[in-house]
Amino acid sequence: MKRAVYPGSFDPITYGHLDIIDRALQLFDELIIAVAVNPNKRALFSQEERCRMITEIVGNRSGLRVESFSGLLVTFVAARGAATIVKGLRAVSDFEFEFQMALLNRQLAPTLDTVFLMTQDRYAFLSSSSVREIASLGGSVHQLVPPSVEEALRVRFEVTPTPVSNGAHVVERD
Ligand code: PNS
Repeated sequence: MKRAVYPGSFDPITYGHLDIIDRALQLFDELIIAVAVNPNKRALFSQEERCRMITEIVGNRSGLRVESFSGLLVTFVAARGAATIVKGLRAVSDFEFEFQMALLNRQLAPTLDTVFLMTQDRYAFLSSSSVREIASLGGSVHQLVPPSVEEALRVRFEVTPTPVSNGAHVVERD
């Protein structure tokens, strides 16, 4: 039974991530999508929201489950009895950082390996941060994320008029 972990922030999940998930499921019997708390990043969606969104999208596909984790990735991977970490590579620019992470993880847990999967070239430009930025500025992310994520972004960035004491309205972002 080949079990792998696909970790990430998934803030939010994009069609690029889903492409990597599909590819990984061709290679592994079980894939755990591991949704991270990253203390260095301020997330748009809470860890629970990200897990819920992903679970709704991937449904109960056999061999796939969604879990949240905090702390060291290698600890989580070992605790789940997996031997492989799956990461997506979009462009050469991803490589240096991912290479460093993979080697650090190997230093921490020599029996674990990282496998890199290439996205389809039409997703090579796609990142969660660009999706957040486009959505926050009112642009369409229709071709970048599933409809439920598009809706969650719309609600999160909805411009809401808030009454102020002098009777005027200010516009605030949720
Ligand atoms: O989607 P992201 O933000 O690029 O994912 C990065 C993630 C969550 C995979 C990475 O930050 C991670 O592995 N975090 C867990 C903490 C850890 O193990 N750090 C040491 C890695 S060298």
